[in-house]
Amino acid sequence: MSGNNTLTITDNRTGKTYEVPIADGTIRANDLRQIKTDAQDFGLMSYDPAFLNTASCRSAITYIDGDNGVLQYRGYPIEQLAEESNFLEVAYLLLEGELPNKAQYEAWTADINVHTFLHENVRKFMDGFRYDAHPMSQLISTIGALSSFYPEAKDISSHAQRYSHIVRMIAKMPTIAAWSHRHSIGFPLIYPDPELSYAGNFLSMIKRITEDEYTPHPVLDRALDVLFILHADHEQNCSTSTMRVVGSSNVDPYSAVSAAAAALYGPLHGGANEAVLRMLKEIGSKDRVPQVIKEVKAGERLLMGFGHRVYKSYDPRAKTIKKLADQVFDVTGKNPLLDIALELERIALEDDYFVKRKLYPNVDFYSGLIYEAMKFPTAMFTVLFAIPRVAGWLAQWNELVEDKEQKIARPRQIYTGPALRNYVAMDKR
Ligand code: SDX
Repeated sequence: MSGNNTLTITDNRTGKTYEVPIADGTIRANDLRQIKTDAQDFGLMSYDPAFLNTASCRSAITYIDGDNGVLQYRGYPIEQLAEESNFLEVAYLLLEGELPNKAQYEAWTADINVHTFLHENVRKFMDGFRYDAHPMSQLISTIGALSSFYPEAKDISSHAQRYSHIVRMIAKMPTIAAWSHRHSIGFPLIYPDPELSYAGNFLSMIKRITEDEYTPHPVLDRALDVLFILHADHEQNCSTSTMRVVGSSNVDPYSAVSAAAAALYGPLHGGANEAVLRMLKEIGSKDRVPQVIKEVKAGERLLMGFGHRVYKSYDPRAKTIKKLADQVFDVTGKNPLLDIALELERIALEDDYFVKRKLYPNVDFYSGLIYEAMKFPTAMFTVLFAIPRVAGWLAQWNELVEDKEQKIARPRQIYTGPALRNYVAMDKR
């Protein structure tokens, strides 16, 4: 590569030329402001609806190579972490930047284990939801309510405060999630069991009825833990960007996580796994697949669980989840909807409409099949996404708080409204 790291821009409106530095494959949008037609001109801005080509931050947490289907947490390939690690160890890695040694891991898990309970007033707060309230609505509201239980969390400048509320949120997510499910089916709440693993404790609070002890099936316990690893972070996706934008106002982390969870709830994002299952159930049988593909190609519907803003090749998480599905189905029995999913994938991977648009199965395409096989109601699927993603949101938020280059997020706009005009009295309109 010849020449220096600059971009030469000629403004053909004025004939003037500008040198703009290139760093880390980017130019600073603010460097465009010098490009003006005259002294009154505000200067050029970049326009990027949905931030298709805008880097909002520097981050050392997750690396994605969308063209080659690569996903790494702090440099470790997701495939290795899914194989060798566990969710709490991955949560530590995302937050601290290194895998913990034995002493660090024991201290971390001990901190998590003592914070899995919820204040009894939170239980009463959750009692107020309608019996059929969607678990995601309950989750979003309850996390937000936690900010009123821990007002000291507002002191985000204190590393110790940030650590203690990061631990609380990671620890309490399974409890809030399980209680939102038990509330919606009218079952008594089960309290956390610190003897069980992170995923096992969640399964116990979901499944336990009257047995004195609940021992999760080891294959299902491990499968859920691996799903938590795969969903823990994914760089600057919609919900993480929301966490960063809301966090940039220096609000407490509970309020920021509540906003991020609301973003995840959308069917184009974390709500997709629920939408995939509803789509597969609506399709009903393999022989209806060609008709559905026809409707998708006619632009009449989306193939939920397909496509990704970054992955223009197979989502590496989907590959791992597909392998995990076989292990789970060996225990639970095969999910009949799997055949429909496999047929959809087979046709989509051959059909030019999908190939041309680089539409491949994403993380949500197969995860719902596992959740359904484990007898989770469809409405719980996005909650199962949110539980581990809280670790990613908090790691990204922590990085934002410590990033000296960051300040409150406040984008600009292209104004398309009416020019100046005077108020007209009602009787003259
Ligand atoms: C997650 O960002 C992340 O990292 C998210 C996530 C994470 O871990 O945080 O990975 C988790 O949210 C995964 C995505 C889950 N969502 C879905 O499965 C919903 C279905 N997918 C689509 O809505 C879509 O693919 C998105 C939203 C995921 C990505 O949309 P983009 O990048 O904005 O792509 P686009 O809408 O510009 O689509 C490009 C073309 C369009 O066709 P043309 O207008 O060019 O003719 O592809 C088409 C789209 O119509 N297209 C689809 C499609 N997705 C895109 N056509 C049919 N079915 C689809 N699913």
